[in-house]
Amino acid sequence: MIKKILKWTGIILLVLIAGISITTASRQHLKYDAPYPDIHASKDTAVIARGKHLVFSIAHCADCHSLVNADSMLQAGQEPPLSGGYAFKMPLGTVYSRNITPDKETGIGNRTDAELARVIRYGVHANGEAVYEFMSFHDMSDEDLTAVISYLRSTKPVKNKVPENTLNVMGNIVKAYMVKPVGPSGNVPVALQADTTAAYGKYLVFNVGNCIGCHSKRDLSGKFDGPYLAGGNPINGLIPPNLTNDSTGRIFTWSQQQFVERFRKGKLIPQSEMPWNSFKHMNDNELKAIYNFLKTVPAARTEQLASK
Ligand code: HEC
Ligand code: HEC
Repeated sequence: MIKKILKWTGIILLVLIAGISITTASRQHLKYDAPYPDIHASKDTAVIARGKHLVFSIAHCADCHSLVNADSMLQAGQEPPLSGGYAFKMPLGTVYSRNITPDKETGIGNRTDAELARVIRYGVHANGEAVYEFMSFHDMSDEDLTAVISYLRSTKPVKNKVPENTLNVMGNIVKAYMVKPVGPSGNVPVALQADTTAAYGKYLVFNVGNCIGCHSKRDLSGKFDGPYLAGGNPINGLIPPNLTNDSTGRIFTWSQQQFVERFRKGKLIPQSEMPWNSFKHMNDNELKAIYNFLKTVPAARTEQLASK
Protein backbone atom coordinates (compact mmCIF):
# COMPACT_ATOMS: atom_id res chain seq x y z
CA MET A 1 0.00 0.00 0.00
CA ILE A 2 2.66 2.49 1.10
CA LYS A 3 4.75 1.57 -1.95
CA LYS A 4 1.78 2.26 -4.21
CA ILE A 5 1.16 5.64 -2.63
CA LEU A 6 4.84 6.53 -2.94
CA LYS A 7 4.78 5.46 -6.58
CA TRP A 8 1.75 7.62 -7.30
CA THR A 9 3.13 10.62 -5.42
CA GLY A 10 6.30 10.21 -7.46
CA ILE A 11 4.38 10.17 -10.72
CA ILE A 12 2.28 13.20 -9.75
CA LEU A 13 5.44 15.10 -8.76
CA LEU A 14 7.10 14.21 -12.07
CA VAL A 15 4.05 15.41 -14.01
CA LEU A 16 4.00 18.65 -12.00
CA ILE A 17 7.69 19.28 -12.57
CA ALA A 18 7.34 18.52 -16.28
CA GLY A 19 4.39 20.95 -16.40
CA ILE A 20 6.35 23.71 -14.69
CA SER A 21 9.37 23.10 -16.93
CA ILE A 22 7.26 23.30 -20.09
CA THR A 23 5.52 26.50 -18.94
CA THR A 24 8.86 27.97 -17.90
CA ALA A 25 10.37 27.13 -21.28
CA SER A 26 7.38 28.59 -23.11
CA ARG A 27 7.77 31.83 -21.16
CA GLN A 28 11.46 32.44 -21.97
CA HIS A 29 10.78 34.77 -24.88
CA LEU A 30 7.64 36.65 -23.81
CA LYS A 31 6.96 39.75 -25.88
CA TYR A 32 5.86 43.06 -24.43
CA ASP A 33 4.30 46.16 -25.91
CA ALA A 34 5.51 49.66 -25.18
CA PRO A 35 5.17 52.96 -27.01
CA TYR A 36 7.91 54.15 -29.35
CA PRO A 37 9.10 57.53 -28.03
CA ASP A 38 9.07 60.37 -30.56
CA ILE A 39 12.87 60.76 -30.43
CA HIS A 40 15.00 61.57 -33.47
CA ALA A 41 18.79 61.58 -33.53
CA SER A 42 20.28 64.91 -34.53
CA LYS A 43 23.45 65.73 -36.49
CA ASP A 44 23.84 69.04 -34.67
CA THR A 45 27.35 69.14 -33.19
CA ALA A 46 26.17 70.79 -29.95
CA VAL A 47 23.57 68.05 -29.40
CA ILE A 48 26.16 65.34 -30.10
CA ALA A 49 28.63 67.00 -27.72
CA ARG A 50 25.98 67.11 -24.98
CA GLY A 51 25.28 63.40 -25.56
CA LYS A 52 28.96 62.53 -25.38
CA HIS A 53 29.29 64.43 -22.13
CA LEU A 54 26.33 62.59 -20.57
CA VAL A 55 27.51 59.17 -21.80
CA PHE A 56 30.97 59.51 -20.25
CA SER A 57 30.03 61.35 -17.04
CA ILE A 58 26.79 61.26 -15.07
CA ALA A 59 25.05 58.59 -17.22
CA HIS A 60 28.19 56.38 -16.99
CA CYS A 61 27.31 54.26 -20.06
CA ALA A 62 30.99 53.41 -20.58
CA ASP A 63 31.20 51.80 -17.13
CA CYS A 64 29.11 48.91 -18.45
CA HIS A 65 29.38 49.17 -22.24
CA SER A 66 33.15 49.46 -22.56
CA LEU A 67 35.88 47.04 -21.58
CA VAL A 68 38.66 49.60 -21.90
CA ASN A 69 39.79 52.11 -19.27
CA ALA A 70 37.49 54.88 -20.47
CA ASP A 71 38.84 57.41 -17.99
CA SER A 72 42.44 57.25 -19.22
CA MET A 73 41.32 57.23 -22.87
CA LEU A 74 39.22 60.36 -22.29
CA GLN A 75 42.14 62.04 -20.58
CA ALA A 76 44.29 61.21 -23.62
CA GLY A 77 41.63 62.84 -25.83
CA GLN A 78 40.46 59.53 -27.30
CA GLU A 79 36.96 58.14 -27.62
CA PRO A 80 36.38 54.91 -25.67
CA PRO A 81 34.51 52.35 -27.83
CA LEU A 82 31.09 51.34 -26.46
CA SER A 83 31.39 47.88 -27.96
CA GLY A 84 29.93 45.98 -25.01
CA GLY A 85 30.70 42.46 -23.86
CA TYR A 86 31.06 43.11 -20.14
CA ALA A 87 29.85 39.93 -18.37
CA PHE A 88 27.66 40.48 -15.32
CA LYS A 89 28.07 37.11 -13.56
CA MET A 90 25.17 36.64 -11.17
CA PRO A 91 23.75 33.74 -9.16
CA LEU A 92 21.01 33.33 -11.80
CA GLY A 93 23.25 33.43 -14.86
CA THR A 94 25.37 35.77 -16.96
CA VAL A 95 24.09 38.89 -18.69
CA TYR A 96 26.28 40.75 -21.19
CA SER A 97 26.23 44.46 -21.92
CA ARG A 98 25.54 44.98 -25.61
CA ASN A 99 27.56 46.50 -28.40
CA ILE A 100 26.01 49.97 -28.80
CA THR A 101 28.30 51.21 -31.59
CA PRO A 102 26.70 51.70 -35.04
CA ASP A 103 28.03 48.42 -36.45
CA LYS A 104 25.18 46.99 -38.57
CA GLU A 105 25.81 43.32 -37.79
CA THR A 106 26.89 43.21 -34.13
CA GLY A 107 25.84 46.66 -32.84
CA ILE A 108 22.89 49.04 -33.10
CA GLY A 109 23.43 50.07 -36.74
CA ASN A 110 20.13 48.54 -37.85
CA ARG A 111 18.01 49.83 -34.96
CA THR A 112 15.77 52.83 -35.51
CA ASP A 113 15.98 55.84 -33.19
CA ALA A 114 12.55 54.91 -31.82
CA GLU A 115 13.72 51.36 -31.02
CA LEU A 116 16.77 52.67 -29.16
CA ALA A 117 14.70 55.20 -27.25
CA ARG A 118 12.22 52.46 -26.33
CA VAL A 119 14.93 50.13 -24.99
CA ILE A 120 16.24 52.86 -22.72
CA ARG A 121 12.94 54.45 -21.65
CA TYR A 122 10.57 51.47 -21.55
CA GLY A 123 12.95 48.52 -21.06
CA VAL A 124 11.68 46.66 -24.13
CA HIS A 125 14.19 45.26 -26.64
CA ALA A 126 13.68 45.75 -30.38
CA ASN A 127 12.38 42.14 -30.55
CA GLY A 128 9.81 42.85 -27.80
CA GLU A 129 11.56 41.03 -24.96
CA ALA A 130 12.05 42.64 -21.54
CA VAL A 131 15.41 44.27 -20.81
CA TYR A 132 17.07 43.20 -17.58
CA GLU A 133 16.91 46.23 -15.32
CA PHE A 134 20.52 47.41 -15.37
CA MET A 135 19.82 50.87 -16.74
CA SER A 136 17.74 53.41 -14.79
CA PHE A 137 17.20 56.07 -17.40
CA HIS A 138 13.44 55.65 -17.72
CA ASP A 139 12.76 59.27 -16.72
CA MET A 140 15.60 60.87 -18.67
CA SER A 141 14.31 63.99 -20.49
CA ASP A 142 13.47 63.88 -24.20
CA GLU A 143 16.26 66.35 -24.81
CA ASP A 144 18.92 64.26 -23.02
CA LEU A 145 17.75 60.98 -24.54
CA THR A 146 17.95 62.62 -27.98
CA ALA A 147 21.48 63.83 -27.18
CA VAL A 148 22.62 60.37 -26.01
CA ILE A 149 21.22 58.59 -29.09
CA SER A 150 22.67 61.28 -31.39
CA TYR A 151 26.08 60.64 -29.85
CA LEU A 152 25.79 56.84 -30.25
CA ARG A 153 24.96 57.37 -33.93
CA SER A 154 28.08 59.53 -34.36
CA THR A 155 30.56 56.97 -33.01
CA LYS A 156 32.83 54.68 -35.02
CA PRO A 157 31.26 51.26 -35.71
CA VAL A 158 33.10 48.45 -33.93
CA LYS A 159 32.56 44.82 -34.93
CA ASN A 160 32.21 42.86 -31.70
CA LYS A 161 29.78 39.98 -31.36
CA VAL A 162 28.60 39.87 -27.75
CA PRO A 163 27.65 36.39 -26.45
CA GLU A 164 24.00 35.60 -25.74
CA ASN A 165 22.92 35.85 -22.10
CA THR A 166 22.95 32.48 -20.32
CA LEU A 167 20.66 31.58 -17.43
CA ASN A 168 20.61 28.57 -15.10
CA VAL A 169 17.40 26.77 -14.07
CA MET A 170 16.58 29.30 -11.33
CA GLY A 171 17.37 32.09 -13.79
CA ASN A 172 14.94 30.61 -16.31
CA ILE A 173 12.21 30.47 -13.66
CA VAL A 174 12.83 34.06 -12.56
CA LYS A 175 12.83 35.18 -16.19
CA ALA A 176 9.60 33.32 -16.92
CA TYR A 177 7.60 34.69 -14.01
CA MET A 178 9.30 37.81 -12.63
CA VAL A 179 11.24 39.73 -15.28
CA LYS A 180 9.04 42.47 -16.72
CA PRO A 181 9.96 45.68 -18.50
CA VAL A 182 10.46 48.71 -16.23
CA GLY A 183 9.25 52.02 -17.64
CA PRO A 184 8.97 55.69 -16.62
CA SER A 185 7.68 56.48 -13.13
CA GLY A 186 5.52 59.38 -14.26
CA ASN A 187 5.67 62.25 -16.68
CA VAL A 188 9.03 62.34 -18.40
CA PRO A 189 10.40 65.89 -18.63
CA VAL A 190 10.84 67.32 -22.14
CA ALA A 191 13.89 69.45 -21.30
CA LEU A 192 15.48 70.99 -18.22
CA GLN A 193 17.59 74.05 -17.62
CA ALA A 194 21.09 72.69 -16.87
CA ASP A 195 21.91 75.04 -13.99
CA THR A 196 23.10 74.66 -10.38
CA THR A 197 19.63 74.53 -8.81
CA ALA A 198 18.50 71.76 -6.48
CA ALA A 199 15.74 71.00 -9.02
CA TYR A 200 18.30 70.13 -11.68
CA GLY A 201 20.39 68.24 -9.10
CA LYS A 202 17.36 66.15 -8.21
CA TYR A 203 16.91 65.25 -11.87
CA LEU A 204 20.57 64.14 -12.10
CA VAL A 205 20.38 62.11 -8.86
CA PHE A 206 17.07 60.39 -9.66
CA ASN A 207 16.84 60.23 -13.45
CA VAL A 208 20.39 60.05 -14.80
CA GLY A 209 23.12 59.16 -12.28
CA ASN A 210 21.12 56.48 -10.45
CA CYS A 211 22.53 57.73 -7.12
CA ILE A 212 19.24 56.69 -5.53
CA GLY A 213 19.57 53.14 -6.87
CA CYS A 214 22.66 52.45 -4.75
CA HIS A 215 22.33 54.95 -1.89
CA SER A 216 18.80 53.88 -0.81
CA LYS A 217 17.73 50.67 0.93
CA ARG A 218 15.92 48.20 -1.33
CA ASP A 219 14.21 44.89 -0.68
CA LEU A 220 15.03 41.63 -2.47
CA SER A 221 12.81 42.49 -5.44
CA GLY A 222 14.61 45.83 -5.84
CA LYS A 223 11.76 47.97 -4.44
CA PHE A 224 12.76 51.00 -2.38
CA ASP A 225 12.42 50.26 1.30
CA GLY A 226 12.66 53.33 3.55
CA PRO A 227 13.69 56.93 2.91
CA TYR A 228 15.57 57.78 -0.29
CA LEU A 229 19.34 58.28 -0.04
CA ALA A 230 19.56 57.25 3.63
CA GLY A 231 22.26 54.66 2.79
CA GLY A 232 21.97 51.55 0.63
CA ASN A 233 22.59 47.83 0.70
CA PRO A 234 26.23 46.69 0.83
CA ILE A 235 27.91 46.18 -2.57
CA ASN A 236 31.22 44.30 -2.60
CA GLY A 237 31.34 44.72 1.19
CA LEU A 238 30.99 48.52 1.02
CA ILE A 239 27.89 50.36 2.20
CA PRO A 240 26.82 53.27 0.00
CA PRO A 241 26.63 55.94 2.73
CA ASN A 242 23.73 58.08 3.87
CA LEU A 243 23.63 61.23 1.70
CA THR A 244 20.67 62.93 3.44
CA ASN A 245 21.04 66.22 5.28
CA ASP A 246 21.55 64.54 8.67
CA SER A 247 24.47 64.63 11.09
CA THR A 248 24.98 60.91 10.39
CA GLY A 249 25.08 61.66 6.65
CA ARG A 250 28.46 61.38 4.92
CA ILE A 251 28.51 64.86 3.38
CA PHE A 252 26.84 66.70 6.31
CA THR A 253 30.00 68.66 7.12
CA TRP A 254 31.31 68.93 3.54
CA SER A 255 31.33 72.32 1.81
CA GLN A 256 30.23 72.51 -1.81
CA GLN A 257 33.89 72.95 -2.76
CA GLN A 258 34.90 69.78 -0.84
CA PHE A 259 32.12 67.87 -2.57
CA VAL A 260 33.34 68.97 -6.01
CA GLU A 261 36.95 68.15 -5.09
CA ARG A 262 36.01 64.67 -3.82
CA PHE A 263 34.45 63.89 -7.20
CA ARG A 264 37.47 65.18 -9.11
CA LYS A 265 39.64 62.57 -7.34
CA GLY A 266 37.68 59.67 -8.84
CA LYS A 267 37.80 56.21 -7.33
CA LEU A 268 39.79 55.95 -4.07
CA ILE A 269 38.64 52.54 -2.81
CA PRO A 270 39.56 50.02 -5.53
CA GLN A 271 36.67 47.59 -4.92
CA SER A 272 34.03 50.36 -4.89
CA GLU A 273 31.29 49.79 -7.47
CA MET A 274 30.41 53.48 -7.58
CA PRO A 275 31.22 54.73 -11.10
CA TRP A 276 33.57 57.43 -9.77
CA ASN A 277 35.77 57.49 -12.88
CA SER A 278 32.79 58.48 -15.01
CA PHE A 279 31.33 60.82 -12.41
CA LYS A 280 34.62 62.68 -12.13
CA HIS A 281 33.98 63.97 -15.66
CA MET A 282 30.86 65.86 -14.54
CA ASN A 283 31.25 69.61 -14.82
CA ASP A 284 31.26 71.93 -11.80
CA ASN A 285 27.67 73.06 -12.37
CA GLU A 286 26.38 69.48 -12.33
CA LEU A 287 28.24 68.69 -9.12
CA LYS A 288 27.05 71.91 -7.50
CA ALA A 289 23.45 71.12 -8.50
CA ILE A 290 23.75 67.64 -6.97
CA TYR A 291 25.22 69.07 -3.77
CA ASN A 292 22.49 71.71 -3.57
CA PHE A 293 19.84 69.03 -3.99
CA LEU A 294 21.38 66.65 -1.41
CA LYS A 295 21.28 69.53 1.11
CA THR A 296 17.48 69.62 0.69
CA VAL A 297 16.93 65.87 1.24
CA PRO A 298 15.04 65.38 4.54
CA ALA A 299 17.36 64.18 7.30
CA ALA A 300 17.25 60.43 7.91
CA ARG A 301 19.44 58.85 10.57
CA THR A 302 21.25 55.61 9.89
CA GLU A 303 23.38 53.28 11.93
CA GLN A 304 25.70 52.96 8.93
CA LEU A 305 28.15 55.76 9.65
CA ALA A 306 31.03 53.36 10.11
CA SER A 307 30.97 51.90 6.61
CA LYS A 308 34.61 52.59 5.87
C1 HEC B 1 24.93 49.27 -15.00
C2 HEC B 1 25.32 48.83 -16.33
C3 HEC B 1 24.81 49.60 -17.54
C4 HEC B 1 24.83 50.97 -17.75
C5 HEC B 1 25.32 52.07 -16.80
C6 HEC B 1 24.31 51.18 -19.07
N1 HEC B 1 23.97 49.97 -19.66
FE1 HEC B 1 23.07 49.71 -21.46
N2 HEC B 1 22.90 47.71 -21.12
C7 HEC B 1 23.43 47.05 -20.03
C8 HEC B 1 23.11 45.63 -20.13
C9 HEC B 1 23.52 44.55 -19.14
C10 HEC B 1 22.36 45.47 -21.32
C11 HEC B 1 21.74 44.17 -21.85
C12 HEC B 1 20.44 43.92 -21.12
C13 HEC B 1 19.70 42.68 -21.57
O1 HEC B 1 20.33 41.78 -22.14
O2 HEC B 1 18.46 42.63 -21.38
C14 HEC B 1 22.26 46.80 -21.91
C15 HEC B 1 21.59 47.06 -23.11
C16 HEC B 1 21.58 48.31 -23.75
C17 HEC B 1 20.96 48.60 -25.03
C18 HEC B 1 20.22 47.60 -25.91
C19 HEC B 1 21.06 47.24 -27.06
C20 HEC B 1 20.38 46.34 -28.05
O3 HEC B 1 21.09 45.52 -28.66
O4 HEC B 1 19.16 46.43 -28.22
C21 HEC B 1 21.18 49.93 -25.30
C22 HEC B 1 20.74 50.71 -26.52
C23 HEC B 1 21.93 50.47 -24.19
N3 HEC B 1 22.16 49.47 -23.27
C24 HEC B 1 22.35 51.78 -24.12
C25 HEC B 1 22.93 52.36 -22.98
C26 HEC B 1 23.20 53.78 -22.84
C27 HEC B 1 22.99 54.81 -23.92
C28 HEC B 1 23.70 53.96 -21.58
C29 HEC B 1 24.05 55.26 -20.90
C30 HEC B 1 23.04 56.33 -21.01
C31 HEC B 1 23.74 52.65 -20.94
N4 HEC B 1 23.27 51.71 -21.82
C32 HEC B 1 24.18 52.43 -19.65
C33 HEC B 1 24.11 47.62 -18.97
C34 HEC B 1 24.28 48.99 -18.75
C1 HEC C 1 26.68 51.45 -8.31
C2 HEC C 1 26.38 51.99 -6.98
C3 HEC C 1 26.57 53.46 -6.74
C4 HEC C 1 26.09 54.54 -7.48
C5 HEC C 1 25.31 54.51 -8.79
C6 HEC C 1 26.43 55.72 -6.75
N1 HEC C 1 27.13 55.41 -5.62
FE1 HEC C 1 27.97 56.72 -4.30
N2 HEC C 1 28.84 55.17 -3.30
C7 HEC C 1 28.65 53.84 -3.56
C8 HEC C 1 29.47 53.05 -2.66
C9 HEC C 1 29.54 51.53 -2.62
C10 HEC C 1 30.17 53.96 -1.82
C11 HEC C 1 31.18 53.63 -0.71
C12 HEC C 1 32.53 53.34 -1.31
C13 HEC C 1 33.22 54.56 -1.86
O1 HEC C 1 33.36 55.57 -1.14
O2 HEC C 1 33.60 54.52 -3.06
C14 HEC C 1 29.75 55.29 -2.26
C15 HEC C 1 30.21 56.48 -1.70
C16 HEC C 1 29.74 57.74 -2.00
C17 HEC C 1 30.16 58.97 -1.34
C18 HEC C 1 31.16 59.09 -0.19
C19 HEC C 1 32.56 59.19 -0.73
C20 HEC C 1 33.61 59.40 0.33
O3 HEC C 1 34.79 59.53 -0.06
O4 HEC C 1 33.30 59.41 1.52
C21 HEC C 1 29.46 60.00 -1.94
C22 HEC C 1 29.54 61.48 -1.59
C23 HEC C 1 28.63 59.41 -2.97
N3 HEC C 1 28.83 58.06 -2.98
C24 HEC C 1 27.76 60.13 -3.79
C25 HEC C 1 27.10 59.59 -4.90
C26 HEC C 1 26.35 60.38 -5.87
C27 HEC C 1 26.13 61.87 -5.78
C28 HEC C 1 25.92 59.50 -6.82
C29 HEC C 1 25.16 59.81 -8.11
C30 HEC C 1 25.75 60.84 -8.95
C31 HEC C 1 26.36 58.17 -6.43
N4 HEC C 1 27.07 58.26 -5.27
C32 HEC C 1 26.10 57.01 -7.17
C33 HEC C 1 27.86 53.30 -4.56
C34 HEC C 1 27.23 54.04 -5.56
